[in-house]
Amino acid sequence: MAIVTFGNITLPHGLALAPLAGVSDRAFRRVCRARGADFTVSEMVSAKALCYEQRKKTAGERSVSGQLASVMRDELPMAVQIFGSEPDFMAEAARMIQANEYIGCMSEVAPSAIDINMGCPVKKVTGNGEGSALLKNPKLIGEIVSAVVKAVSIPVTVKIRTGWDSTSVNALEVARIIEAAGASMITVHARTREQMYEPGVDRSVIAAVKRAVSIPVLGNGDIYTAADALSMMAETGCDGVMIARGAMGNPWVFSEICAALDGRDYTPPPMAERFEVALAQVKEMIAEKGERIGVAEAKKHLSWYCHGIEGAAAARGRLMQATSYGELAAILREMGGRA
Ligand SMILES: Cc1cc2nc3c(=O)[nH]c(=O)nc-3n(C[C@H](O)[C@H](O)[C@H](O)COP(=O)(O)O)c2cc1C
Repeated sequence: MAIVTFGNITLPHGLALAPLAGVSDRAFRRVCRARGADFTVSEMVSAKALCYEQRKKTAGERSVSGQLASVMRDELPMAVQIFGSEPDFMAEAARMIQANEYIGCMSEVAPSAIDINMGCPVKKVTGNGEGSALLKNPKLIGEIVSAVVKAVSIPVTVKIRTGWDSTSVNALEVARIIEAAGASMITVHARTREQMYEPGVDRSVIAAVKRAVSIPVLGNGDIYTAADALSMMAETGCDGVMIARGAMGNPWVFSEICAALDGRDYTPPPMAERFEVALAQVKEMIAEKGERIGVAEAKKHLSWYCHGIEGAAAARGRLMQATSYGELAAILREMGGRA
């Protein structure tokens, strides 16, 4: 049993769905919550874009960043993740998100926490000194975390990598700075930026961070099964785990880990049931984003749900050609009937 608490938030099994740009939208967050994720994190939102959109837009207009940052009551506890490199913009974005104050805001409630992205490896982000590039500037990390902590009353959490590259692994120093600046929890993705998403993570860095700070630490990287989660906790002493790719097409990974932590047996649901969950997710995506965008974005999710099933490659090809919910559902139900 892994219980994680920070602020007034309790994660009974210490299980979090990772922030996933283009993936961890509201529909997927709800699917994961319903299957045992105690906590979820939004797709990353640019602090600067959120602030700039406010200046350009007028009341009633929808803001793209505002939609990404929106939170419904039934999703809690969850964090909205922001990225940026300027303390003032980061603080202002965090403040607006907590207050539901930005133009185009669709939120029912404030998120439970603000998460700060210090791990994104993408050039478009690091080129601006944002995401994992912050790891090269520990002083600025302290300034950003302090500014965001001062701007909001909800907990602030931070997600880091082990360092920029193999010659500059500095997660320990960075984690101490983050804790001293007032953050409530740290997630360590146990790869450097240089390693991108290469197989293999360095769990010893998570263990060292856990020993170095007194706030909760979530371990992240390459967790696909309950055995992976349990060994991550045992080897590193981390308080809980955060899962990204292991949940894509398999939100039941959270149910499997909950069962293992509780000492219960776990039986995976039959394929037909998996596909009905996937289709309910797609319906929700369409309700939120409209049929054109919902169907386009659903295709990747559905191809992940088909992973490992006989005939998946052919089904993926057909899914990519589909233009409506009806077509997607017919392809999946045909697969489910055969599986
Ligand atoms: C498609 C994709 C999108 C991601 N988007 C984000 C993001 O918005 N913010 C973030 O901090 N990390 C992001 N990540 C990194 C994941 O949260 C996670 O740290 C990484 O995938 C390692 O975990 P895993 O081995 O369980 O996949 C993304 C990863 C993937 C594969």
